[in-house]
Amino acid sequence: MKSTPTSLSKFGNIILKKLTTYFGESQEGKGKVLQQIPPTEMAAQMNLESFIRNGGLTPENVHTFLDPYLENSQQMHHPGYMGHQVAVPHIASGMADMIHGVINNPMAIYEMGPSAAVLEGTIVNWMLEKVGWFRVESITDFSPIENNGGGVLTHGGSLANLTALLAARAQAAPNAWEEGNPDDLVVLCPEVSHYSVARAISIMGLGKQAAIPVPVNRFEIMQPEHLQPIFTKVKNEGKRVMAVIANACATSTGLYDPIDEIGQFCNENNLWFHVDGAHGAAALLSQNDRYLLKGIERADSLIWDTHKMLRTTTLCAAVLFKNQKHLAQTFRQKGSYIFHEKEQVGFDMMPYAIECTKAGLGSKLFWVLAAEGEQGLSQFVENQLLKTRQFYKLIQSHPDFMCPYEPQMNILCFQYIKHSLENDHQLAIRNAIIKRGNYYISSAEVNGRRYLRFVLLNQLTTAETIKGLMREIVEVAEEIDFNQNQNQNQN
Ligand SMILES: Cc1ncc(COP(=O)(O)O)c(C=O)c1O
Repeated sequence: MKSTPTSLSKFGNIILKKLTTYFGESQEGKGKVLQQIPPTEMAAQMNLESFIRNGGLTPENVHTFLDPYLENSQQMHHPGYMGHQVAVPHIASGMADMIHGVINNPMAIYEMGPSAAVLEGTIVNWMLEKVGWFRVESITDFSPIENNGGGVLTHGGSLANLTALLAARAQAAPNAWEEGNPDDLVVLCPEVSHYSVARAISIMGLGKQAAIPVPVNRFEIMQPEHLQPIFTKVKNEGKRVMAVIANACATSTGLYDPIDEIGQFCNENNLWFHVDGAHGAAALLSQNDRYLLKGIERADSLIWDTHKMLRTTTLCAAVLFKNQKHLAQTFRQKGSYIFHEKEQVGFDMMPYAIECTKAGLGSKLFWVLAAEGEQGLSQFVENQLLKTRQFYKLIQSHPDFMCPYEPQMNILCFQYIKHSLENDHQLAIRNAIIKRGNYYISSAEVNGRRYLRFVLLNQLTTAETIKGLMREIVEVAEEIDFNQNQNQNQN
């Protein structure tokens, strides 16, 4: 394969044809959502070693790689895909990736991708506007206006959380960048925070013990009445609270911490308030569901993944600040080859991001918005939430199923309770379901109990899909129960 326009055209045509068939069949629910064969067998099917050693990929033989590659992929477009918090991407976002794949503009410095930089700036302003942190008329106004919000796109929510906490540290301990951490900083976070929070705290060198867990209830919602006593205790121990974190929403249950109450506590005590909205900030787009983030104006920083609810391909997340000065002071560092004084037309994102080389992430969401309009994207979020509540009722109305809570987002935990409530039994059901390949669901442990779990990101998942899933759960649970009884009788 030569890297030439002719190759692009020839490969492009063949690959597009294959992808169109794959996409269509996935959407129609043909074949398995997921098949998992041993890795060595799969590597052989894809001719990996031969291609790596000898090259020789041509339009004529590309199918020998691409067919097994696609066959062994997770079929996100299949209506039975409802596993994890990863978007079923809008095809428009795929177009953005294709363009990036050819032009490859790492736009963190303006001159390395002016158009992609402008897309990122505009998308960040659009997201700030939805939070209520953008005080200018037009989202294509990039002038630095005092007290306006600011933000940057990162490769994922984990980096976004780290960036937000670095900003909180710059506020609490402005000399830490130069001199290292003072030894009195702690972070109050829900005990069920996403693991990226604990990692960020450790990466920053604060030590894992600097993460002070705030108790949650049995559905993993933070209980804000614990904040004052914990705050008093850590102060008495000579510690300083660098940030308080809330989940919007919790990864496992999809339920929201009381943002308003927590925000009020932070504002009264002059504490940095960070909201992890990697998944659930999307509710800001729905007039019916925006109330879930009531009090967001009290926050200092928010992270928001677009590759979860906003229909983009992986990865794209935003870290947003109510006041752009916090973005500006996060990384106080000089890189002489890029940060030199220069006459500049546009703006560089590099001083504000962990990444040095950064993909044109804004284009992923731009393409989705350009295809659907903001109304269309809001409608998508609203519909997915509406359907999740309908499916909750459907599951809850079956005498052998149980949902522990009413969903707020598009994440629902449930159990099949006819034979056993044991964690291992629920896990065995999940494993049997994904092995059959008609549905792909996840599972979560909440308050020590294992649940089956779905995340409704596929527009094509309907009540009929859920009824089919329930029928299959009944079948596999019967099989598991029968086999267990057989084994017990034999012993
Ligand atoms: C609440 C929360 N925060 C952060 C993350 C990490 O995001 P990412 O996977 O984009 O790094 C996740 C991922 O699911 C999450 O649920």
